[in-house]
Amino acid sequence: MHNSVCFLILSWVFALLVFPGVPARSGESFSKPMDNITVRQGDSAILKCSVDNKVSRVAWLNRTTILFAGRDKWSLDPRVILLNNTAITEYSIKIQNVNVYDEGPYVCSVLTNKKPKSSRVHLIVQVPAKIVNISTDITVNEGSNITLMCLAIGRPEPTIIWKHRSKSGHKFMSEGEYVEITAITKEQSGVYECSSTNDISAPDVRTVQVTVNYPPFISNARSTGIPVGQRGILQCEASAVPVANFEWYKEDRRLFNGLNGIKIENKGRQSMLIFFNVSEEDYGNYTCVAMNTMGITNASIILYGPGAVHDVNRAARSRKNSLCLLLTVTLWYLFKF
Ligand SMILES: *[C@@H]1O[C@H](CO)[C@@H](O)[C@H](O)[C@H]1NC(C)=O
Ligand SMILES: *[C@@H]1O[C@H](CO)[C@@H](O)[C@H](O)[C@H]1NC(C)=O
Ligand SMILES: *[C@@H]1O[C@H](CO)[C@@H](O)[C@H](O)[C@H]1NC(C)=O
Ligand SMILES: *[C@@H]1O[C@H](CO)[C@@H](O)[C@H](O)[C@H]1NC(C)=O
Ligand SMILES: *[C@@H]1O[C@H](CO)[C@@H](O)[C@H](O)[C@H]1NC(C)=O
Ligand SMILES: *[C@@H]1O[C@H](CO)[C@@H](O)[C@H](O)[C@H]1NC(C)=O
Ligand SMILES: *[C@@H]1O[C@H](CO)[C@@H](O)[C@H](O)[C@H]1NC(C)=O
Ligand SMILES: *[C@@H]1O[C@H](CO)[C@@H](O)[C@H](O)[C@H]1NC(C)=O
Repeated sequence: MHNSVCFLILSWVFALLVFPGVPARSGESFSKPMDNITVRQGDSAILKCSVDNKVSRVAWLNRTTILFAGRDKWSLDPRVILLNNTAITEYSIKIQNVNVYDEGPYVCSVLTNKKPKSSRVHLIVQVPAKIVNISTDITVNEGSNITLMCLAIGRPEPTIIWKHRSKSGHKFMSEGEYVEITAITKEQSGVYECSSTNDISAPDVRTVQVTVNYPPFISNARSTGIPVGQRGILQCEASAVPVANFEWYKEDRRLFNGLNGIKIENKGRQSMLIFFNVSEEDYGNYTCVAMNTMGITNASIILYGPGAVHDVNRAARSRKNSLCLLLTVTLWYLFKF
């Protein structure tokens, strides 16, 4: 502070020596507020200075460097221009396409009645938050530890928020550049959202896709009843990442696509064992095996005929029939009387 005041005075003495031709006016009054001017990077800043007609010499300085002395431009920077200042009491400059290096104190220096006075403004440059580096999409095995990174720049310093996007909404995770997930579960797979904001503009949002590998588990394998002579399908559904491969067995014998009037059709997480024309020999105990790089599992599925005890639908149907019979008998009695 002490130094810059000293330098200011020195600059002035220097300016006066070099520019004795700066229009001389006499007087003393001059306002001296310390203002902050806030500008976004890329915008223009107008630094205003009002003087009165008694002022003899004027100059604008950036820190300790003279930008303008009177109407003479000292700065080599083409972005700095002296405004036309139609009013005689005005001595304002404009900085175009402001960047972060322009931040700092600017001084309008005025010599009035041989007394130097200065008016300082502090230029503050704001930069919208922007994510400059973020973790790439990753694939890990269940149980791994991972760290996601999101680096952002901006002025003021942006805040960074991590969220996990899921079907039930966006769940807040943590604040900060790094988020650590220990012993990751399959439920924690999905899209992670990094949002960086400093309220200068809309938040900058980017995402990381986290894929968690896990062994298959069979979510659907129901026994099915199909009469002889009909087309039949046994279905097996497995949840797995990466997607499971399927194999079908009858007792210990592996089944292959196209042999013995069957077809194996795999579609995503589902495998179908298709019988073109079910025969008596087809009935029995089948095993659906689902496997991926993480593991292997299996489930038994029974293909049974109409007479089998497994026919749950038939049981339900016969219950319905007996109810119907009861109703008919009741009605018959009602009408009889
Ligand atoms: C200017 O900004 C600084 C912080 O950047 C603050 O401390 C000061 O109070 C501000 N001055 C005015 C006049 O707003
Ligand atoms: C100042 O005025 C001149 C002519 O009157 C014009 O050409 C120039 O663009 C003006 N400069 C600014 C910064 O307005
Ligand atoms: C102000 O000074 C700083 C430091 O010397 C420089 O980086 C910046 O470009 C200057 N800005 C203007 C508008 O003169
Ligand atoms: C992002 O960060 C990673 C890890 O720190 C680094 O290896 C990579 O070079 C960075 N990428 C860029 C574009 O800065
Ligand atoms: C994961 O982190 C926990 C605690 O931070 C540690 O005990 C464990 O060994 C780590 N697991 C792996 C696979 O690095
Ligand atoms: C199914 O097989 C039986 C006996 O082998 C045969 O009589 C019948 O025509 C076949 N049905 C169809 C649709 O192929
Ligand atoms: C089908 O076979 C599996 C083993 O391959 C066995 O565990 C299961 O009990 C059998 N189911 C029936 C109904 O026999
Ligand atoms: C099914 O899994 C059991 C153990 O989980 C295993 O003993 C059996 O051999 C498997 N069956 C087939 C056909 O892979």
